[in-house]
Amino acid sequence: DRLPALLEAMPKAELHIHIEGSLEPELMFRLAERNGVALPYPSVEALRAAYAFKDLQSFLDIYYAGASVLRTEQDFHDMAWAYLVKAAQEHVVRAEIFFDPQTHTARGVEMGTVVAGLSGALERARRELGVSCDLILCFLRHLSEEDAFQTLEQALPYRDRFIGVGLDSSERGHPPEKFARVFARCRELGLHLVAHAGEEGPPEYIRSALDVLHVERIDHGVRCVEDPALVRRLAEQRVPLTVCPLSNVKLCVFSRMEDHNLGQLLARGLVATVNSDDPAYFGGYLNQNFQACFEALPLDATHAWQLASHSFEASFADAADKRRWH
Ligand code: HPA
Ligand code: ZN
Repeated sequence: DRLPALLEAMPKAELHIHIEGSLEPELMFRLAERNGVALPYPSVEALRAAYAFKDLQSFLDIYYAGASVLRTEQDFHDMAWAYLVKAAQEHVVRAEIFFDPQTHTARGVEMGTVVAGLSGALERARRELGVSCDLILCFLRHLSEEDAFQTLEQALPYRDRFIGVGLDSSERGHPPEKFARVFARCRELGLHLVAHAGEEGPPEYIRSALDVLHVERIDHGVRCVEDPALVRRLAEQRVPLTVCPLSNVKLCVFSRMEDHNLGQLLARGLVATVNSDDPAYFGGYLNQNFQACFEALPLDATHAWQLASHSFEASFADAADKRRWH
């Protein structure tokens, strides 16, 4: 069976990766020591053992606690560099990387420190690894729109270091409408727009992400299948969904990979892509996501080609790069 080799070797884009979710326990412990930060776990093994999640919130609680070891520009650089080295090995030729500045600025880390560390690693990856990559700033939806506006203000001196904004964190009870004004401002600024919707939240959140926030892609979006008219619209308008199979199983959006709806999404003509979300927490980087869903679902080489092709179509890379990869 040559499918695993194809999945591994095919060039692909990763469009849904939270850089704080790439922080491996080993690096987390090293940074904790370097910065004199106490972690509430005695060892790497004990920390990994705590990665048993029952839903999105139970993951987010641990994920935000883990990010507390990040203090200096070097820390942010080391984390992003480790991800980009891994991505290059997996034949990721394009990465659009989320970061959550509010998780850091709320702890007294300067926006400039976060952005300098991350964007320095990206610049190095373009040069040394040949990976095309850019940053997308995410607003935390459990915080207020006012807080998002302040975050945007703090980020504007670094406007050339990120290409867009997204919306992540606790979905239920925090509909896209809550961020209508700040997304309108970002749109005026010419930023690309994306939002998490329809992961745990209802299909209505996918509709309002499109109609109220005017996003260009939906992150996750798997609950769209509950609304057939919405599925038809997503297919007709070729709105990409950045699906994260291992994440969905770890956060109990689907109870087993065999139950995942990726195959259905493709069969209905949706521009679905495969992504890792938070690889250090969910048991695998991009290629392990491909391997896991191709093992569990009736997907073949045609689907592999389709998913890679969708990832380039859905990316915000330059038109020339997209033509080259596509
Ligand atoms: N959903 C919402 N917020 C997140 C996620 C996710 O999958 N990963 C990191 N922050
Ligand atoms: Zn995500």
